[in-house]
Amino acid sequence: MANTVLVTGGAGYIGSHACVELLQAGYQVVVVDNLVNSKIESLKRIQEITGKPLAFYQVDIRDHDALADVFAKESITSVIHFAGLKAVGESCEQPLMYYHNNVYGTMVLLAVMAEANVKQLVFSSSATVYGTNSEIQYTEDLPLGAVNPYGRTKAMIEDMLRDLSAADALKSTGSPWKIALLRYFNPIGAHGSGKIGEDPNGIPNNLMPYVAQVAIGKLVQLSVFGDDYPTPDGTGIRDYIHVVDLVKGHVKAIEALNGEKFASGGCKAYNLGAGKGCSVLEIISTFEKITGRKVNYRIAPRRAGDLAEYFADPSLALKELNWKVEKTLEDMVADTWNWQVKNPQGYN
Ligand code: NAD
Ligand code: WQD
Repeated sequence: MANTVLVTGGAGYIGSHACVELLQAGYQVVVVDNLVNSKIESLKRIQEITGKPLAFYQVDIRDHDALADVFAKESITSVIHFAGLKAVGESCEQPLMYYHNNVYGTMVLLAVMAEANVKQLVFSSSATVYGTNSEIQYTEDLPLGAVNPYGRTKAMIEDMLRDLSAADALKSTGSPWKIALLRYFNPIGAHGSGKIGEDPNGIPNNLMPYVAQVAIGKLVQLSVFGDDYPTPDGTGIRDYIHVVDLVKGHVKAIEALNGEKFASGGCKAYNLGAGKGCSVLEIISTFEKITGRKVNYRIAPRRAGDLAEYFADPSLALKELNWKVEKTLEDMVADTWNWQVKNPQGYN
């Protein structure tokens, strides 16, 4: 019987792409999502792309009994935990909502997993846990220090998971926790079919969906936040990663948790990034080249809290998960545009 993976937040941007990849790799998929930031349509599209069914429960991960019911009904062997709130600005305005949803929600999930004796977990962490660092290429052993409530929820969850795994060493019985913390850099792009992609509510916070909505005429102008950074063209540099490459890393992580490396348990962090940076102006020029559309922009002041430049050292993921990115920036832009043109109103 195929392994069954519970995907929390599976209707969302990254989760929906992960479901496609898991189904295509032969896993059974169970999605738990409360649809606070997603639409059920994404789940229909996953089934259209793969021709395979998945099980869906509209459940909030903070609802212990409803979540326990899902574990009672389905033969879950591992969990990929995407469910969470992710807007940095909103987390500064409503920190308790973020701690309750992300941190408390994960505590409930972990309790239910322990009760069901399911102890394999892949967690959606973020490069944001590194905070402000003197290095610009991040390795997993750098000190952590998130600088906003959203980032701190990720750092706290990472701490909790490391503690949970460390506690196994003090016990002589029971199966150990096997945990991969995947630290994403900047996921962009969409599935090549154009059926699933990023569908932000309201005005996008992130660069790529903003650029796409300017190019299609939904938004008038992009503000480039700062052109006086100490970078070659003065604009901010990030490590953009195609969402399909990113979710392939999750399938590799599940395989690793099932393999020799994690045979006696453990909790380990891996950077998922391309390993190179790209500036805001490079994103704009690549977008214009690939789509033939003009991206109207102006130079605006720096955005509070932004760093000038950082990118991943993804060599540990290559060594231990046998994973690296395959897609180019051109692929990321072309797939974003394909999704945007085919779904100008997102899933609506
Ligand atoms: P998303 O908002 O599209 O997906 C998250 C999903 O979780 C949504 O479908 C939402 O409805 C669901 N959800 C939220 N709270 C829930 C709850 N309490 N119970 C059940 N479902 C709940 O976001 P995404 O971009 O797909 O991100 C997925 C994960 O990856 C998040 O944890 C996010 O913090 C993390 N991450 C995202 C990025 C990024 O740039 N997109 C970068 C690093 C890390
Ligand atoms: C990228 C670059 C901006 C918008 C965020 C979160 C991070 C992670 C990924 C979850 C920066 C510039 C942006 C715009 C711009 N999420 N920009 N005009 O800030 O690197 O990371 O998403 O974990 O935690 O903070 O991504 O896409 O917002 O910005 O000039 O309208 O584009 O200044 O240099 P960021 P982003």
